[in-house]
Amino acid sequence: MDSILVKGGAELHGEIPIAGAKNACLTLMPATLLADEPLTLTNVPRLSDIATMTQLLQSLGVEVTSLQDGRVVAMSSQSADNPVADYNIVRKMRASNLVLGPLLARHGHAVVSMPGGCAIGARPMDLHIHGLEAMGAKIELKDGYLHAEVPGGLKGAQIELRFASVGATENILMAATLAKGTTVIKNAAREPEIIDLATCLRAMGAQIEGEASGTITIQGVDQLHGATHPVIADRIELGTYMLAPVIAGGEVELIGGRIELVNAFCEKLDQAGVSITETKKGIKVARKNGRIKAVDIKTEVFPGFPTDLQAQMMALLCTADGTSVLEETIFENRFMHAPELMRMGAQISVQGGTATVTGVERLKGAPVMATDLRASVSLILAGLAAEGETVVSRVYHLDRGYEHVVRKFNGIGANIERIKN
Ligand code: EPZ
Repeated sequence: MDSILVKGGAELHGEIPIAGAKNACLTLMPATLLADEPLTLTNVPRLSDIATMTQLLQSLGVEVTSLQDGRVVAMSSQSADNPVADYNIVRKMRASNLVLGPLLARHGHAVVSMPGGCAIGARPMDLHIHGLEAMGAKIELKDGYLHAEVPGGLKGAQIELRFASVGATENILMAATLAKGTTVIKNAAREPEIIDLATCLRAMGAQIEGEASGTITIQGVDQLHGATHPVIADRIELGTYMLAPVIAGGEVELIGGRIELVNAFCEKLDQAGVSITETKKGIKVARKNGRIKAVDIKTEVFPGFPTDLQAQMMALLCTADGTSVLEETIFENRFMHAPELMRMGAQISVQGGTATVTGVERLKGAPVMATDLRASVSLILAGLAAEGETVVSRVYHLDRGYEHVVRKFNGIGANIERIKN
């Protein structure tokens, strides 16, 4: 298993291009199942999760062609006749469950493996099931698979989500595009990835309103057609690289970044004493002066502070002036990076969903272990400013969500390399 060696201390200067969003792509790709005509996505990130989704769709009979060095993905579901999403693929990536709604809309039945355990939380699918059942589906769990069927086809319904789940909103939204009648999803998620999905579905002929408001209305149509859609920028990759010059010093421009994708995050950085300016090409970030100030963070659904930037923010706050309190409200077990940061000399105490971080002058390099995607990059960020060398193991997590991470960091002057084991 590869690891990444980070030699801390270098100031960072230059530009980083921000790729297309993993979490938008993972819901846009299953939308191809809603039409027989081709759906083409551009600005696609080159990640192992995209390769897994490609494998899953191909197993369902979708023709998937990767073009322009993986930047463009052309998909055709004309002969997609298999309604079974196999455990051997689904267990590699939870987001595979986003084929459930589209398969049900396409075939009137679907058999989708339950994703299984996840390091950051239980992550049940009750809200997905609740919504699809409201549209007339019968769903039963058998041998680890969800068996879903809807004799007579999906029907429009009024659905109120107990929690504004991203995945449940996406599955229900996709299914509702081909349902008979009108579906209203109340307390729907309104992350930028949901907006991107609704935009793409409208380009395919769907009738959707309100996706930015939290109440989405979908007027079902008989069929959708093909389209070409550019994937939005990855706001989590953006936030991650914005922290690099703040942690290590210097100034970096994030090409293709937009502040409105990461507003709540920028507000906290501003409080901490970070300079953020919008440029023609994107966003420029630098520390204003000296040590950053401690700030309190509470993760929330969009437009609140994103849980997918919590670990990276903790890495920054480890060397802040003062004590910061981080509250994680989305996932019940998302502080596993804390003990690894403590191996580097950080002062952190965790109680349930709250972590208290008392800033120290400087971290020290150490061998540390990645436990999940965002935790892995938070350890690299911590290593950028640490004294000496940090070796991050189990970096396969990283490949799932960050393309060319070593090249991008080296491009701004960081001293990091991948060690093949
Ligand atoms: C999406 O996961 C993202 N993944 C996650 O990013 C992100 O952390 C999360 O949204 C929150 O923003 C993708 O888009 C592929 P949820 P998702 O359904 O859809 C509970 C990353 O690092 N819940 O909004 O699975 C659930 O347990 C990943 O890129 C139910 O209880 O998130 C969790 O506590 C990690 N029942 C909370 O809601 C349900 O049926 C949020 O889950 C569904 C969810």
